[in-house]
Amino acid sequence: MEIITKVNQMQMLSKDIKKNSKTIGFVPTMGYLHEGHLSLVRASKKDTDVTVVSIFVNPIQFGPKEDLSRYPRDFERDRSMLEKEGVDYIFYPSVEEMYQADFSTTINVEGVTKNLCGASRPGHFRGVATVVGKLFNIVMPDKAYFGEKDFQQLVTIKRMVRDLNFPIEIIGMPIVREKDGLAMSSRNSYLSEEERESALCLYKSIILAREMVKCGKKNIKDILNAIEELIRNTPYTKIDYVKICNPETLEYIEDGDIDGKKLLALAVFVGNTRLIDNAILEG
Ligand code: PAF
Repeated sequence: MEIITKVNQMQMLSKDIKKNSKTIGFVPTMGYLHEGHLSLVRASKKDTDVTVVSIFVNPIQFGPKEDLSRYPRDFERDRSMLEKEGVDYIFYPSVEEMYQADFSTTINVEGVTKNLCGASRPGHFRGVATVVGKLFNIVMPDKAYFGEKDFQQLVTIKRMVRDLNFPIEIIGMPIVREKDGLAMSSRNSYLSEEERESALCLYKSIILAREMVKCGKKNIKDILNAIEELIRNTPYTKIDYVKICNPETLEYIEDGDIDGKKLLALAVFVGNTRLIDNAILEG
């Protein structure tokens, strides 16, 4: 496994790999890896000839009051996990390597970024789309892998790739959960023992919604009210949003019954840590 820190070196390598008719699978990450990331790596290893993982904590996707400075980092741990998985290259650039001081071009995906996290985190998806677009131009993958936990991110990247004709297949992979149901996230490391207990309210909300739909209680307002009550009764929590929406457009559906596939999406502060989760409800 080789660690590449320079953009032009990564581009030269990718060109060489392609010249040899080999396919490139790409897993973009911000490091502090967990089983969720490794599931993407394993899919890439299975589907493609050469797997590249990027580790880059992207400053432009964090708001001024967000957790950029305390975002967890441990390159040595990440490196050894990726080595064990048989990854071929880690792309590990510095901020200066990725963003020149007078950097002034961004990618703005409209529509699908308006609601959910887009409403709570202004500028976040512009930062994500911009860095992912740059990484695609640097790594030049055939396939790129994203987790469904960041459902809106996945929808946004698929839209960007379609609209801007990136010749890349985007593959979404299922959420990986801890044994008790908590969705894996690098940010779980911020949680105290008590907060970790409270964090289960996101998964419990999903189970509750699924059970309601299963026994015919499909009214959207009733489902949202039941979830909000469950979370309000959980210590250390504050709801950012609980929404049901169209899984393609991410437009909110506020009333009526669950009919066909709908996305339940949640963002909840547990202490100071903002956690997200989602599930498809099928009515
Ligand atoms: O999902 C993430 O870790 C990040 O948003 C990504 C896709 C690596 C872009 O910085």
